[in-house]
Amino acid sequence: MEKHYAVIGHPIEHSLSPVMHKAGYEALGVNAKYHRFDVEPRHLPEAVEGLCALGFSGWNVTLPHKEHIIPFLNTLTPQAKRAGAVNTVKIQEGQRIGHNTDGVGFVRSVEKELNGFKGKLAVLLGAGGASKGIALALAEQGMKVHILNRKLEKAEALVEVIQREGGTATAGALAPEGWLEEVDLLVQTTSVGLHGESFPFSVQGISEQALVVDIIFNPSETAFLHEAKQQGCRTLNGLGMLLYQGVYAWEFWLGGQAPVEAMGQALQDQLLRRMLNTF
Ligand SMILES: NC(=O)c1ccc[n+]([C@@H]2O[C@H](COP(=O)([O-])OP(=O)(O)OC[C@H]3O[C@@H](n4cnc5c(N)ncnc54)[C@H](OP(=O)(O)O)[C@@H]3O)[C@@H](O)[C@H]2O)c1
Repeated sequence: MEKHYAVIGHPIEHSLSPVMHKAGYEALGVNAKYHRFDVEPRHLPEAVEGLCALGFSGWNVTLPHKEHIIPFLNTLTPQAKRAGAVNTVKIQEGQRIGHNTDGVGFVRSVEKELNGFKGKLAVLLGAGGASKGIALALAEQGMKVHILNRKLEKAEALVEVIQREGGTATAGALAPEGWLEEVDLLVQTTSVGLHGESFPFSVQGISEQALVVDIIFNPSETAFLHEAKQQGCRTLNGLGMLLYQGVYAWEFWLGGQAPVEAMGQALQDQLLRRMLNTF
């Protein structure tokens, strides 16, 4: 029987999830369709009921619904509970199960380059939704996490959550300090750079050993990432995180191993098409 999946968010027209999941179905001959629905916040409860009534097997959740969807679900996996946010829902025997693959997706996207997590220092710029999932997942891997945010109280609140989970974390102001020379993994999680803006501070003097990630993937190289590269650091954008959160969502829904290469290729092709269309 054909299965149906979807992504819901608002706005949603630029989501790359449909292209990625459809390529995966084609690669493995899975009899499924992946839809994309623009759901305004006021319509979220009806949208959830509607997806269930229509027999959807699961769906991805993106901004601004990742937290607001929780009251409409039956259970949460430990990952979703810890993050306080859901990016994947599975319908199993009528039960709506909320899961979160953002954090593990990020971890998977950096593990080859980082070569081990335990005891290393991660500095996260930003303390929004994305930062929370990433920070918790890195702390779970045994990294020391230092979180810097414009609104310091948000970084402090996130540190408390991590410490409650048994992780090691500290908070600080969004400024370049002593950590620049010690950082193993620097992750830019704010929305600064989405529209070509430069970052509020320079990373000049950063350790050349550091792996620097900007979770923005479009543009493929933000001004922040460009500067880190000029400083001699290895850099990654957010495409790997997007890919692996999708890969883990696939495996949560369908079991087995997702076709990572086909899904990644589809993402790259689609981004290239979009870039060419803008010229
Ligand atoms: N690659 C992926 O798969 C992936 C997944 C999720 C998100 N993302 C990207 O991650 C970014 C953040 O998403 P989110 O969901 O975490 O958003 P969010 O919850 O709204 O958080 C936004 C963060 O950006 C900070 N910020 C915004 N404008 C700033 C400025 N001018 N100066 C300094 N800090 C500023 C905010 O600081 P304050 O708290 O001080 O306001 C906050 O820490 C977006 O660009 C999104 O596209 C990528």
